[in-house]
Amino acid sequence: MAEKLRVGIIGAGRWAASAHLPGYDRSPLAETVAICDRDLDLAKKRAAEFNIPHVYTDYQEMLAREDIDVVDVCTRGGPNDPHNHEVLAFAALEAGRHCLCEKPVAHDYKRTWEAHRLAESKNLKTKVGLTFRYAPAMQYMHEMIQEGFIGTPFIFNGYEQNSQFISPDEPLTKRDLIPPTDQKDIKVSSLEGYGAPIIDLSLWFMNSDLVSVVGLLKNFVPYRTDIDGTKVRTNIDDGDIYIGEYANGAMCSIQSSYVTVGGYPGLEARAYGSNGALICRLVDEFGVRQTLHKAKPDAVEFVPVEIPDRFFPPGYKPGEPWPSMFYANLVHNFMEEIVSGGDENQGNFAQSARVQHIINAVEQSHRERRWVDLAMDAV
Ligand SMILES: NC(=O)c1ccc[n+]([C@@H]2O[C@H](COP(=O)([O-])OP(=O)(O)OC[C@H]3O[C@@H](n4cnc5c(N)ncnc54)[C@H](O)[C@@H]3O)[C@@H](O)[C@H]2O)c1
Repeated sequence: MAEKLRVGIIGAGRWAASAHLPGYDRSPLAETVAICDRDLDLAKKRAAEFNIPHVYTDYQEMLAREDIDVVDVCTRGGPNDPHNHEVLAFAALEAGRHCLCEKPVAHDYKRTWEAHRLAESKNLKTKVGLTFRYAPAMQYMHEMIQEGFIGTPFIFNGYEQNSQFISPDEPLTKRDLIPPTDQKDIKVSSLEGYGAPIIDLSLWFMNSDLVSVVGLLKNFVPYRTDIDGTKVRTNIDDGDIYIGEYANGAMCSIQSSYVTVGGYPGLEARAYGSNGALICRLVDEFGVRQTLHKAKPDAVEFVPVEIPDRFFPPGYKPGEPWPSMFYANLVHNFMEEIVSGGDENQGNFAQSARVQHIINAVEQSHRERRWVDLAMDAV
């Protein structure tokens, strides 16, 4: 392996520029050596901005390079695009590369498990863009829970919500949420796009899998302006709620929406147990990016918790925007996991499969208006 891990990234769009590429720049363990985008001009522009020597429009040509250790899938294809995350992630693993993939790896959780098993069989590490577990406040909350701060976990409440699409004039196609051709059945949207990171945190913090869920998807903004200026019916889930029961006896409620009034990114994670409670908020409000509060049975008024410096990424500067701050942590953590060669691999494809399993089950629960069991032995 080279002194630094050599990264090739597929997708040179907005998220690559604001989160992924700055993350590699800041990690002392990485260097980005190749970039691939169907849009050659865009790929060249990013290559110039981030000093990347090799540019491709065909990902297979990039994968044929012998000297790439890590492939980063940061694309956004249409819903029927054959070259979506799933195809690219499998191709990267088949080519023997460690893989960071944006969420979801695949819409069907079983395919995500297959990708995980492929990685395991080749001794490769994987990571999914579950950004918010890498917020310093969330990382510290996890450590406090692991060290017993809340005692036996009872209840988790999770929210990922903001008002990004509350205006019917905000075209969804901007985020690739193309109206479904069949408008009869509501299409999963917020639950997958917004729900995934808070579902990830709900599993991580409560340290258990869910065994059963019941949920509801809603379409609050039925007509939207498309990018061509016409109003179109958009029967998509723009708000959803489910409750779940964990194998360890705890329970959760999760809510996601992009039409609820509030700031970006809009996460709140509350964990209550026999011996304490913790509440973490990741909401940009008046320049504050993250807060963590704690309470105990004999001191029930929640008080702020200071986040230790060790949870911040290399090169952190106070006031830094959340995408680069959280993602620099994610990228550097992945590089450390690969270089260390140990078993550590948080937020990997297996975790993404667990998250996607819940998304698929909540969708089924909504469609059949009933509780759905998550049979873990089925995977
Ligand atoms: N984890 C997070 O918090 C978070 C936040 C924002 C976006 N994202 C995800 O990041 C991904 C990228 O989002 P974006 O906003 O940068 O999108 P974007 O549309 O700005 O850029 C995506 C790029 O991918 C390229 N592309 C698509 N398929 C390709 C292929 N097969 N080969 C080469 N290039 C290909 C497109 O040409 C485009 O330039 C999406 O999956 C999005 O959901 C994640």
